[in-house]
Amino acid sequence: MSMDNEQLQRAAKDHLWMHFTRHGSYAEADVPVIVRGEGAYIWDSNGKRYLDALAGLFVSQLGHGRTELAEAAAKQAQELAFMPLWSYAHPSAIELADKVASYAPGDLNRVFFTSGGGEAVETAWKLAKNYFKLTGKPMKHKVVSRSIAYHGTTQGALSITGLPLLKQQFEPLVPSTFRVPNTNSYRADEITGGFLDGSDPEAFGRWAADQIAVAIEAEGPDTVAAVFLEPVQNAGGCFPPPPGYFQRVREICDEYDVLLVSDEVICAFGRLGHMFGSERYGYQPDMITCAKGLTSGYAPLGAMIASEKLMEPFLEPGAMFAHGYTFGGHPVSTAVGLRNLELFEEENILEHVRTNEPSFRATLERLKDLPIVGDVRGDGYFYGIELVKDKDTKETFTAEECERLLFGFVSKTLYAEGLYCRADDRGDPVVQLAPPLIADQSHFDEMEQILRVVLDKAYTLL
Ligand SMILES: Cc1ncc(COP(=O)(O)O)c(C=O)c1O
Repeated sequence: MSMDNEQLQRAAKDHLWMHFTRHGSYAEADVPVIVRGEGAYIWDSNGKRYLDALAGLFVSQLGHGRTELAEAAAKQAQELAFMPLWSYAHPSAIELADKVASYAPGDLNRVFFTSGGGEAVETAWKLAKNYFKLTGKPMKHKVVSRSIAYHGTTQGALSITGLPLLKQQFEPLVPSTFRVPNTNSYRADEITGGFLDGSDPEAFGRWAADQIAVAIEAEGPDTVAAVFLEPVQNAGGCFPPPPGYFQRVREICDEYDVLLVSDEVICAFGRLGHMFGSERYGYQPDMITCAKGLTSGYAPLGAMIASEKLMEPFLEPGAMFAHGYTFGGHPVSTAVGLRNLELFEEENILEHVRTNEPSFRATLERLKDLPIVGDVRGDGYFYGIELVKDKDTKETFTAEECERLLFGFVSKTLYAEGLYCRADDRGDPVVQLAPPLIADQSHFDEMEQILRVVLDKAYTLL
């Protein structure tokens, strides 16, 4: 690096347009510049260390500084730096597709590589439309997804996203998407309009799944192509599925001939202790979309994995799925992905997550004694802590309080105390935690200790 700290700050402010960033907030303050990572830790340009409690952005499964992955990238770049997957193939894409298919549930054997998660979601929707056009149901094109769920920022994926505030500046978006309730059990009462209070998770799961059937009926089953659901919904703060939810969704999809797309951009590759989230909750999707942890972030890569049935029409003479990306399945990324999954096997990463998840949960649940902590929820190494004004009534914060408390204090102070994670108010305010999968009890304790001090103080500022 040729710039010193001061030059980096200047150039960042003058030239770098960061993503989802309030640039005005850096008019006076420094832009945080992260220069190095090792294991579960990252360091900024001043030499200060932070616990990476978000795995970058749900990405760094094996942690930072893994020379094996850096070497796999260098070796591939020397051998063959680029070749598209447009009618040609290269060995690392072939081998990774083979490995991913071996892990994917049921007959999800067909792997279409992309550059990231949003492109995987676009690909899944386009395949759903194209498949039905080729199989005699050309009207089927609409998508059902859940309230507050995030599925990406490209216009199709954003249209599937259930966050009105994220969409309104870009409307009109791609038409034909519809929202159903999510599975926020903590707020089941509000979600069901007082019909259920969440004390019977099966009943709430059944109710929430049945809303998908209601939406399909309302739109006309002949027009609905797919339902997009995350195994655990991230936005809103980690909503695991109630027991039986996905089994009922599968029945509904079969009844109406609607494809079930499991959006596992976050939930795959060990985040929930399994290669795929659908495996953890025992359901069979028709497609999986994934990205992030596939390479542990050492190169960008995503994938849409489809069942044999969905590829069949495209195996006919002359047929083609007219869709692709220059960098989808880039050789360096697929070589890294392959080595990443080998390391998962060599180091028993899935088992490590499954063994440690009860103690991760128990450590975070200690925070429930704080007056501001309303709920601690999640599975695997994927948790949300919902902050409330009043625990008894579950009253949440006003927009002004949220701004002052969440962004003005919690977010900044956690970082200042050495914890990199995310305060999010896309639904009710939550702190999101998803550490690298190599994290152990010492990291859980560190998170709990920093959160305890900062959240306790936040309550006094109300
Ligand atoms: C569930 C889900 N789908 C899609 C995406 C979009 O992925 P990307 O940012 O790689 O385009 C994300 C990103 O966080 C996600 O969480």
